[in-house]
Amino acid sequence: MFVCLGNHCRSPLAHGYFQSLLEKHGLESDIEVASSGTSGWHIGEAPDPRISRVARRHGVGLEHIRGQKITKADLRTCDLILVMDRSNLRDVLSLDRDSRYINKVSLLRTFDPSSMDDEIPDPYYSGIFEEVYTIVSRACDSLLGEMKGHLERP
Ligand code: 4NP
Repeated sequence: MFVCLGNHCRSPLAHGYFQSLLEKHGLESDIEVASSGTSGWHIGEAPDPRISRVARRHGVGLEHIRGQKITKADLRTCDLILVMDRSNLRDVLSLDRDSRYINKVSLLRTFDPSSMDDEIPDPYYSGIFEEVYTIVSRACDSLLGEMKGHLERP
């Protein structure tokens, strides 16, 4: 599960991009993808049209994604929770008072070995949607590379 503040820009992009990557590699039935926000501001809404436009230009559809808020149950049921920035990390870990699921939670960008930064900036006010696409896609490419090494193959 990819998590940002609003589930409106960054995490829907990671969600849709990673799904399209899984389809390209024939892995869509091996790994389930979801996204959510730490806030409930955009529950039930389609992603921000500005990120959908950028994603579409790169051949990635986000139309099927609807905003939802992360719950404690998500911490239990998801294998991996990938957050965009430290504020998301704090908010997600605040749902896990006993630190039971702390090992499931990581900053998505730390998977990109070429990046000096470990946060993905919030484009909502800055408008840096194309830059965020580059950052998210690189991190997701590296994430899949790492996950493929852990998939059991017959
Ligand atoms: P996101 O960006 O966390 O990447 O979805 C935001 C979306 C909406 C708002 C803030 C950040 N907002 O203030 O509504």
